[in-house]
Amino acid sequence: MAVEPVNLSEFQELAKQALPKMHYDYITGGSEDQYTLRENVEAFRRITFQPRVLVDVSRINLSTNILGYNVSSPIMVAPTSKHKLAHPEGLNPLGRVVALVLSSRSTCTIEEVASSCSGIRFFQLYVFKRRDVSANLVQRAERNGYKAIVLTVDTPRLGRREADIRNKMISPQLKNFEGLLSTEVVSEKGSSLEAFASQTLDSSLNWKDIGWLKSITNLPILIKGVLTAEDARKAVEVGVAGIIVSNHGARQLDYVPATISVLEEVVQAVGGKVPVLFDGGIRRGTDVFKALALGAQAVLIGRPVIYGLAAKGEYGVKRVIKMLRDELELTMALCGCCSVKEITRSHVRTERDRL
Ligand code: FNR
Repeated sequence: MAVEPVNLSEFQELAKQALPKMHYDYITGGSEDQYTLRENVEAFRRITFQPRVLVDVSRINLSTNILGYNVSSPIMVAPTSKHKLAHPEGLNPLGRVVALVLSSRSTCTIEEVASSCSGIRFFQLYVFKRRDVSANLVQRAERNGYKAIVLTVDTPRLGRREADIRNKMISPQLKNFEGLLSTEVVSEKGSSLEAFASQTLDSSLNWKDIGWLKSITNLPILIKGVLTAEDARKAVEVGVAGIIVSNHGARQLDYVPATISVLEEVVQAVGGKVPVLFDGGIRRGTDVFKALALGAQAVLIGRPVIYGLAAKGEYGVKRVIKMLRDELELTMALCGCCSVKEITRSHVRTERDRL
């Protein structure tokens, strides 16, 4: 295989060669039978294009806005934990490259990422049994210039990730909790990831708690992990600022649908009241275009960015993001769209359209 990858799956191959098996399995895996993991990628392949021709596409503009912030493209980095498994500098090279959502369970602190990251930053929150720990994270995010809180709502318990169980996966130090949770829990030493989750995550979290979160922050709140029209409507009712359609990269409940196949129904239920963002299975610029055509304001990328980081550090992250941007630009040109706003539902044909 070429040393200089020409697409994201070649980056994945390089990451596989660079990482210890336990760490590669942790990053790449899904839950149980991994049906949803495969579907997240495959479902994109069942969506085709309806391009327009004879449009002047000599100038293509990828810039757009996310939650009112101007950004150079509709592509962000999804919150993923434990980057130090992939690179000794952890998440820091990412912040230098692209807009991102920092995970609560990062191996870099809220403060470190704030000082190394020049683009827009959101903070992803898990709600812990110890509410004071979550409140501490939110306040630090607010103090350090993060623009929104992304509350992950699909993880009352950890999905069953069998590779991690088999490999007896041990996590590196989760820096954000130092001084807040006991060292044993922070380092997850000798325990499984599941044990960390069940000891710390608040599985009683429910819709009423959005009120609690609003009471401790002035930042806009997005909820990440919505897969149905019903939940999307509830989210709007409780006053969230945005919704992220996500199935946690197929790491939680197996046999939920691919995110791209539920995006449109969520967008319709929300009816433009708040922005809808999207993640899961994006491996090509064509996938980004499809998500935008089905109503996403922006997309988040999980695994490919970690593959870039593992394979080639900061340069790898830059290449991954640039590949996606270049492929999106080419797709726009070939579909007859000069700007993100010009990408519409009529540019794609889904399985539902073919019924
Ligand atoms: C994740 N994801 C995740 N989500 C979250 O809200 N908090 C977290 O700490 C993590 N951690 C995490 C670690 C790893 C290794 C992966 C692969 C994923 C889920 C992530 O934000 C996103 O939803 C998916 O990764 C998107 O799917 P793709 O792009 O990986 O297919």
